[in-house]
Amino acid sequence: MFVTFRRIHKCQWVQLMTTCLVLSVVMLCWEQLDNSVVSHVKSYSYRYLVDNRFTSITRSLTISREEARSFSSFPYLLDHPHKCAHEEVFLLLFVKTSPENVERRKAIRSTWGNETYIRRVLGETVKVVFALGAVRTRKEEPSWSKQNNLGLQEQLVREDRLHGDLIQQDFLDSFHNLTLKLLLQFHWTHKNCAQAQFLMTADDDIFVHMPNLLGYLRNASRRGVTDFWVGRVHRGAPPIRTKASKYYVPLEMYPWLTYPDYTAGAGYVISGDVAEKVYHASLTLNASLYIDDVFMGICASAVGVSPQEHVFFSGEGKAPYHSCIYNQMLTSHGHVEDIYDLWKVATNPQLKKTPGMVGSWYCTAVKVALLCKPYNFNTYPCKAAFM
Ligand SMILES: *[C@@H]1O[C@H](CO)[C@@H](O)[C@H](O)[C@H]1NC(C)=O
Ligand SMILES: *[C@@H]1O[C@H](CO)[C@@H](O)[C@H](O)[C@H]1NC(C)=O
Ligand SMILES: *[C@@H]1O[C@H](CO)[C@@H](O)[C@H](O)[C@H]1NC(C)=O
Ligand SMILES: *[C@@H]1O[C@H](CO)[C@@H](O)[C@H](O)[C@H]1NC(C)=O
Repeated sequence: MFVTFRRIHKCQWVQLMTTCLVLSVVMLCWEQLDNSVVSHVKSYSYRYLVDNRFTSITRSLTISREEARSFSSFPYLLDHPHKCAHEEVFLLLFVKTSPENVERRKAIRSTWGNETYIRRVLGETVKVVFALGAVRTRKEEPSWSKQNNLGLQEQLVREDRLHGDLIQQDFLDSFHNLTLKLLLQFHWTHKNCAQAQFLMTADDDIFVHMPNLLGYLRNASRRGVTDFWVGRVHRGAPPIRTKASKYYVPLEMYPWLTYPDYTAGAGYVISGDVAEKVYHASLTLNASLYIDDVFMGICASAVGVSPQEHVFFSGEGKAPYHSCIYNQMLTSHGHVEDIYDLWKVATNPQLKKTPGMVGSWYCTAVKVALLCKPYNFNTYPCKAAFM
């Protein structure tokens, strides 16, 4: 009797010590845990236990049309309202760019954004336009800098005269104004290109494998898809509350634990009907949330559209260089200088052959080696190796 009692005592003592140890470790690492694990758990709990359709979020963000107009009523500095006129447009492609990224626009025009090439060789009408805000001109800046800025706007006007593809609105072009740039795209499309079958939005540092993308969209078009929204999907993403992060969002701006599903802003495609629905949703939503792809998710969830994943759309990530990957890739992020080389490969007819059985085994092996590594967040997911 006495012995058992002592043993229990000893066990409890050990248990107590272990609990203390675990608790102190948890407390020490709490911040780390809270930022990643806990916030994701909270996010998923909110989704599945509280509000799976995000109705309370969209309801809280609903404002009057008059109030919402302040986000989209900026005058156009450069515009091409007739870009799509009297034409059947298969894909309208908006590239989000900034005034100073002249070289990136040049590279895009002569590679995956070359409308002439796409029409002649790939046989589709694709319109490529660049969305941008105004050049920074602040009163407190020294006068030489203002001179510079005037110069930059003049350069833009000249560039636009040459190419006719800049759509510029009079809001400051900055990271925290990306949602205004998103609204520009939907308003412009509604007004000037509502007949486009598909609308794509893309960063100016991504590579789009246009032949593969058009093949994929042609297939979707044949099936007559509606409510189509495809890209790299972020599901159950929690808002980031770390002040140092680029994506930091204060509680006052967005108090909920989770974002609706959305696709990475680097590049995604929607069908024309979704563009129209999102446009209408945006007319009564508070667009002060400055993360544009999340705001797109809020608009879409307000009209009941949800995104679907395609493994060969990349988010932040860059595709590994390999011909087995090029055969299937749709977009890849983080390309500036190498865009010409990638385009050469993408448009080389000799590399377009479908591999035989041995070839496809070889490619699967290569893709497993390239994509299925632990902590490999920066490219296509492992399952892409088996597609
Ligand atoms: C676009 O493609 C056409 C046809 O292939 C070609 O003639 C033209 O030089 C290209 N444009 C640019 C800017 O590279
Ligand atoms: C967004 O643009 C507006 C209009 O130009 C400007 O007043 C505001 O400061 C900009 N916001 C940011 C965060 O850059
Ligand atoms: C076209 O879509 C169907 C249905 O999603 C799919 O099974 C097929 O593989 C696709 N074909 C091509 C060439 O993408
Ligand atoms: C929109 O949301 C912001 C907070 O993110 C708030 O300050 C602002 O008053 C809201 N606008 C309207 C019209 O409710």
